[in-house]
Amino acid sequence: MDSRNGSVSEALLDAEIESFFDSAPPLKDRAGIIKKLKEFIEYNSTPPGKGSPRRVVCVTSGGTTVPLEQRCVRYIDNFSSGHRGATSTEYFIKAGYAVIFLYRRGTFQPYCQSLPEDPLLECFECSDDSTIQVRQPHTEAVKRAVSDHHAAIAGGHLLKLSFTTIFEYLQILQSIAMSMKDLGSLAVFYLAAAVSDFYVPWKSMAEHKIQSASGPLDMRLVQVPKMLSALKKEWAPMAFCISFKLETDSKILLEKAEMALKKYRMHMVVANELSTRKEEVTVVTGNEKILVCRDKTQADSDVEEPLIELIVGRHSAYVKDSDL
Ligand code: PMT
Repeated sequence: MDSRNGSVSEALLDAEIESFFDSAPPLKDRAGIIKKLKEFIEYNSTPPGKGSPRRVVCVTSGGTTVPLEQRCVRYIDNFSSGHRGATSTEYFIKAGYAVIFLYRRGTFQPYCQSLPEDPLLECFECSDDSTIQVRQPHTEAVKRAVSDHHAAIAGGHLLKLSFTTIFEYLQILQSIAMSMKDLGSLAVFYLAAAVSDFYVPWKSMAEHKIQSASGPLDMRLVQVPKMLSALKKEWAPMAFCISFKLETDSKILLEKAEMALKKYRMHMVVANELSTRKEEVTVVTGNEKILVCRDKTQADSDVEEPLIELIVGRHSAYVKDSDL
């Protein structure tokens, strides 16, 4: 691509991004979200006791939806349980990072891994005098989840923000990135959310429930602009950026991850295949492909532990280099 073509396609992408945000429905409580972000980042920039500024990572988790109607009855969804994002959040906090956890409502939450699927109904019981107590087999798991979660929130290490639609996700991501801009190289983006590639622009979307009596549905979906470029170029240019690449065909996975690394100038791309994503991932950097595996000799091990360890090491080197 010559530089003229390059700047034409950059200008096109900028226009697509602008049009996406201009036509998106206004984000509910934008001012409240920005206030929370400002306070969280300020607190971690000058933590109590004159400690050095904490590194801050934005972890995105879960899938975005694409509404088909403004008063939404139907939507297109993206696969993601949120397990990767929630588990990674725990390891980042353990490594001393402050985490902004941007998650899809209803998906996996940090510190809740050892709880059953419906914790409220399965973990608690009502005794004769109407007090609520934890049922015996779940006592330890509930104690650990509650105390670790509350400690992370009270210690200012964890800020949770939720989304459902692609509109909410990208608007909140932009606000987070802009709030983190001044952190420079101490900021990290770990983009594990499964983000929709196509959407129905708000203005061309039906207001009411689409009627089946009108016959087959003919609907035009527009491409969601890849925000990774804007993130890297404008929103938080000094941040250390890790994106994910998910494929079901292992033959094209690494090639696609390498393409994303170069095109969006990511520091790392974590390549994972759907069926083996909990066992192994390959971290693609400018000159390496590092296979990261779960320790299969341990029943309760996960791939996020060695993955976050690797990322923390690389981010430390990046911070050091940026200081020179
Ligand atoms: O949640 P789990 O069940 O534990 O599963 C984890 C996971 C498989 C969802 C996760 O590991 C993962 O791979 N997440 C990214 C999936 C994805 O959306 O891949 P993609 O090829 O569509 O996008 C690649 C990157 O571009 C992503 O980091 C995404 O944030 C970004 N993107 C995507 C679309 C878009 N319009 N703009 C973007 O910036």
